[in-house]
Amino acid sequence: MTTPVVPADPRAIDRAAHLLREGRLVAFPTETVYGLGADAASPEAVRRIFRAKGRPANHPVIVHLASAEDVPRWARDVGADADKLARRFWPGPLTLILPRATHVSDVVTGGQDTVGLRVPSHPVAAALLRAFGGGIAAPSANRFGHVSATTATHVLQDLADAVALVLDGGECEVGIESTIVALCGGPAVLLRPGRIGIDSLAATLGYVPDTRTSGAPRAPGTLESHYAPRTPAWLVPPDALRAECERLMERDEVVGVLARTVQHAEDFDGVWMTAPSDSVGYAHALYANLRSLDAANVDVILIERVPEDSDWLAIHDRLTRAARGDADDRD
Ligand code: TXA
Ligand code: MG
Repeated sequence: MTTPVVPADPRAIDRAAHLLREGRLVAFPTETVYGLGADAASPEAVRRIFRAKGRPANHPVIVHLASAEDVPRWARDVGADADKLARRFWPGPLTLILPRATHVSDVVTGGQDTVGLRVPSHPVAAALLRAFGGGIAAPSANRFGHVSATTATHVLQDLADAVALVLDGGECEVGIESTIVALCGGPAVLLRPGRIGIDSLAATLGYVPDTRTSGAPRAPGTLESHYAPRTPAWLVPPDALRAECERLMERDEVVGVLARTVQHAEDFDGVWMTAPSDSVGYAHALYANLRSLDAANVDVILIERVPEDSDWLAIHDRLTRAARGDADDRD
């Protein structure tokens, strides 16, 4: 069986909504990355997500909603901070972790007392949510532990045959997963950095959210090895990149490089990719770049370290996880 990939026109969106109602899986674009969607009200349908991804059952999935007005159906005790963040950043690349409403399935929450909610801004995701009429549970549409998908082709590379339909909406604009903030009583905790940075969160909340994760709900995106290519990858400071290439080439290793500011030496004979030098462009292209290098049959991937300032926090986070890959944590 080959998985249909269709341009996300209104007819395809209606078909996708119909498949979701039947308990099937549909991949769809969001402004961050592609999602692997299922009817969030059907534990049986959500279980299919875990089987398709090879994901452990205790990892919660985000429920996507058409509008912030739907939040009370999924969460309780929504406080003033959650309200402020939702008003400011929804629809958009922000996920709020809130105390769950009683009917929300353990399959969705990973057995926790909280639920992750997001109102995406991508027109296709928004149209699908409206056509479907309920919440759509959707993790990123990649195999567990692997690099997220930012095009329909990436989805097929990881999940062909596991999805009933892929809605093709082109490249995802943001390119990295949503910012996740937990609001479960007490002050906000930033669990996963994303395009919406800690400074913007602080400006809206009136205080700087905590980034401590101990005691906060589990977020598998926070596993040390995640978002990882299969080829071993290392982070290298810009001024050491050429020398490191040379050292590896002397050992007859085929080197793949994700550079940003550094140019390759004349005798470099591996695969050299140059990423955009600004953080927005870099994030947009990041997963496609990692997937290309992973597919290039190189022995090792070297990634030029990015700046440390707050604009780069989310990218730094993803690169650290991609590079420190511990084989045990990958699928
Ligand atoms: O941008 C995104 O967030 C994308 C798109 C498709 O919306 N989704 C995504 O889903 O990245 P996923 O499952 O790959 O990552 C969601 C993260 C996971 O680390 C998950 O554990 C965490 O959100 N999460 C979901 N519900 C949670 C909860 N109740 N408590 C703590 N973490 C939760
Ligand atoms: Mg993911």
